[in-house]
Amino acid sequence: MFIGTEKLTHIYMPGTPFANQALKEVTFELSRGEFALVIGPSGSGKSTLIQHLNGLLRPSSGKVFFEGRAIGSDKAELLALRKRVGLVFQMPEEQFFSETVYDEIAFAPRNLGFEENIVQTMVEEALDEVGLDTTVLPKRHPFQLSSGQKRLVALASVLSSKPEVFILDEPTAGLDPSGRSNLYGLLKRLNRENGLTVLICTHHLDEAAALTDTVLVLQGGRLVLKGPAEKIFSHREQLYQLGLGLPAVTEIMYGLSEQGMKVRTNIYSLEGARQEINKLKGRCEK
Ligand SMILES: Nc1ncnc2c1ncn2[C@@H]1O[C@H](COP(=O)(O)OP(=O)(O)OP(=O)(O)O)[C@@H](O)[C@H]1O
Ligand SMILES: [Mg+2]
Repeated sequence: MFIGTEKLTHIYMPGTPFANQALKEVTFELSRGEFALVIGPSGSGKSTLIQHLNGLLRPSSGKVFFEGRAIGSDKAELLALRKRVGLVFQMPEEQFFSETVYDEIAFAPRNLGFEENIVQTMVEEALDEVGLDTTVLPKRHPFQLSSGQKRLVALASVLSSKPEVFILDEPTAGLDPSGRSNLYGLLKRLNRENGLTVLICTHHLDEAAALTDTVLVLQGGRLVLKGPAEKIFSHREQLYQLGLGLPAVTEIMYGLSEQGMKVRTNIYSLEGARQEINKLKGRCEK
């Protein structure tokens, strides 16, 4: 197992009247290089689950694994783990602690012992990668940014530690359409070309679904569905019952199919839909 959990249970504020079991015996595993999605209604435990994967939260019971070993509580090991398993929070503000954008992104490379001139190049590369300006922005305080810019700085600061697993919690919240498509372009490149394992929690499937190998579905802290994207997105009724949906393009294909057109419904990208509809046109013209 590269990364995953075994019967992971998490209780917030245990032993108090406010005790809340947010995860219930969740078991899953991902291989190195997989692109995975965690979906589920609000409050189903997505953010709680991913904070276990880099040791930010500790299991109430059960285990979390990285490279086949259970994550322990040794501080040095946890710090090393957090460099290899990078997590971008749902609220980017929660991870900022520096006075400038530059220092925020430089933190990881400095910690890794790089010379300042190399650190500068790494900061510029990370800003460039997420599509942010490398001249004025680095001098600003992270709180003096728009919400989309904060998210991109949070991404850049995690990327600068060169993680092997990149976990993002609702990464497109606050991004404009070109920011969203840049972000997914970047994630695709990191996954397909650099072999990064990517795990995303999101309510917005439109850009994510086409890239995804595996989907995990949480409901009330339980993992109720897991498997290849095609299989999970074929559980249309169950997803709707959970208050979840399908990518808009997949819905269109279902709509066409329900009107008697012979099209596949396991389509998750506009390009896939275009090809499928063109095939249909070809069949009609024959
Ligand atoms: N710090 C906390 N203290 C106590 N309970 C918490 C805390 N954080 C989350 N919870 C509770 O744990 C459960 C799971 O929350 P979590 O944030 O993991 O859900 P989520 O699936 O990420 O939701 P969303 O889609 O809204 O981000 C919810 O019932 C939530 O109220
Ligand atoms: Mg969440």
